[in-house]
Amino acid sequence: MQEIRKVIIPVAGWGTRSLPATKNIPKEMLPIYNKPVIQYVVEEAQRAHIQDVIFVTNRDKNVIEDHFDYNLQLESVLERAGKLEKLEEVRKVAEMVNIMSVRQKKQLGLGHAVMCARELVRGEPFAVMVGDDLMFSGVPGIRQLIDVAMAEKMPVIGVMEVPWEKVSRYGIIQGEEVSPGVYRVHDMVEKPARENAPSRLAIVGRYVLTPDIFDHLDKVQPGHGGEIQLTDALKTLAQERGMMAVRMAGMRFDAGDWSEFLSANIYFALQDEDLRYELLAQLRKFVQFQ
Ligand code: UTP
Repeated sequence: MQEIRKVIIPVAGWGTRSLPATKNIPKEMLPIYNKPVIQYVVEEAQRAHIQDVIFVTNRDKNVIEDHFDYNLQLESVLERAGKLEKLEEVRKVAEMVNIMSVRQKKQLGLGHAVMCARELVRGEPFAVMVGDDLMFSGVPGIRQLIDVAMAEKMPVIGVMEVPWEKVSRYGIIQGEEVSPGVYRVHDMVEKPARENAPSRLAIVGRYVLTPDIFDHLDKVQPGHGGEIQLTDALKTLAQERGMMAVRMAGMRFDAGDWSEFLSANIYFALQDEDLRYELLAQLRKFVQFQ
């Protein structure tokens, strides 16, 4: 398999779990400490040597593309004010990766969002990174998958162990561990009841896929709420062509879940030496009041 150069990042969802914050601001632009959610996702892609980012957007999400473009007016203000560090920071974001975008005109689910980018991946294997799923690890999360995909010449999905009481929130795989943390996928079930779950290995928002996924997506029947589920196409792709899963190392936060969103903010703020002690003192105070 050739090196993965493109990533599809779907960011066209309504973000209803995050309302009212997301009434006019995309969920992917909410800040985690001092950067929007989506910047962490794109930084992970860049660290994994992916050059081309394809955003699947909607009519209200232009601000996401703008974030990765130059803002010449702001830059000249910063230059004149001598705020050179900030200038460097905002310019750097525009130079991270090439940006392309495609509209998802109706929000028909993650599978449909991936289908919208079909023409832009041009028959190459590609990565998918869910735009509100944050991963932090030494080796970038998506790189962990790319390395296995290239070695095995197969599609690869990212999984993480979740507690048994949370299996019903995820797609869960049934697989055979072929080397530490690497599984051959036999089957997968979407949001199983705890007693029906074949494992507690949950599919998280990182994938390396081959273009034949689109033929499988074409055949997926819309499920709950008319949504075209990516998991349905992955299931038939795994059966027909074979698929691996990698138990991803690192921390993960779902930015669409308030408790994880807030935890991610604290996690990042605590990494900043300038903030760390004051923040810890505040947190201790809050805990005492509980
Ligand atoms: P989610 O299901 O977490 O996002 O999709 P959502 O639908 O925006 O949020 P809730 O559940 O209503 O709060 C994961 C990612 O896939 C994108 C979202 O923007 C998010 O980044 N997505 C989802 C699409 O691009 N299109 C869709 O039709 C659905």
